[in-house]
Amino acid sequence: MTGSAAVGVLVPAAGLGVRLGPGLPKALRELAGEPLLLHAVRGLRAAPSVGPVVVAAPVDEVGAVRALLADLDVLVVAGGAERQDSVRLALAELPAAVGLVLVHDAARCLTPVAVVEAVVAALRAGADAVVPVVPVADTVKQVAGARVVATLDRAVLRAVQTPQGFRRDVLEQAHASGTVARTDDAGLVEALGVAVTTVPGADEAFKITRPLDLLLAEALLAMTGPGKHGGRRAR
Ligand code: CTP
Ligand code: MG
Repeated sequence: MTGSAAVGVLVPAAGLGVRLGPGLPKALRELAGEPLLLHAVRGLRAAPSVGPVVVAAPVDEVGAVRALLADLDVLVVAGGAERQDSVRLALAELPAAVGLVLVHDAARCLTPVAVVEAVVAALRAGADAVVPVVPVADTVKQVAGARVVATLDRAVLRAVQTPQGFRRDVLEQAHASGTVARTDDAGLVEALGVAVTTVPGADEAFKITRPLDLLLAEALLAMTGPGKHGGRRAR
């Protein structure tokens, strides 16, 4: 059944982008002359598997986001206070025919199509939940205040990207469970005891979080051209 199920995508885009510094909400900040969210949704639309798309927009910007994405066949809803709220609100609007759901941060606006397709392929192969991951470059330490408590073994750590993919019933159960996971959806699913599978992510799927990330994204786009990032390969 999952082999032919329609794939829907939820795009949490309602964050303020506090770490990016003062300005418009992050989804509407410009990258190579166009809002970040436009790059993100265009990238999703370039993925052959992607069907219905629901975007959770900043509450004050729903009209602006609808206008921005008018040509891309998306549903736009108002997001919530936390990322998890935005995902839940978007999930509630997903058409009934959708059996497989991806959740993709608008802030990962240069994610290669190959990563999207790899997540879908793993779902179609039978996984209940899938996350794209990359190796961790830095040594990661656990701290308490300013004091180091432990050094984690980098070899077993992975940085997790989006899109994260789920069987729809699994994601719905996770969001109804009352668990709080501020930064990703797989965390909610793990709390249910459901196995989460990894696939290779890509450096280009990095999340635009701080000002330096915008510079990096501008440089990447200058190299590949707008809309061309979809052709880059996952590793
Ligand atoms: N997000 C959302 N609703 C929220 C908070 C975040 O839809 N209430 C979305 C963001 O728009 C982003 C993704 O979740 O696409 C990942 O969040 P993050 O990178 O933390 O973005 P912001 O919350 O906007 O940034 P910051 O934490 O710096 O304010
Ligand atoms: Mg945030």
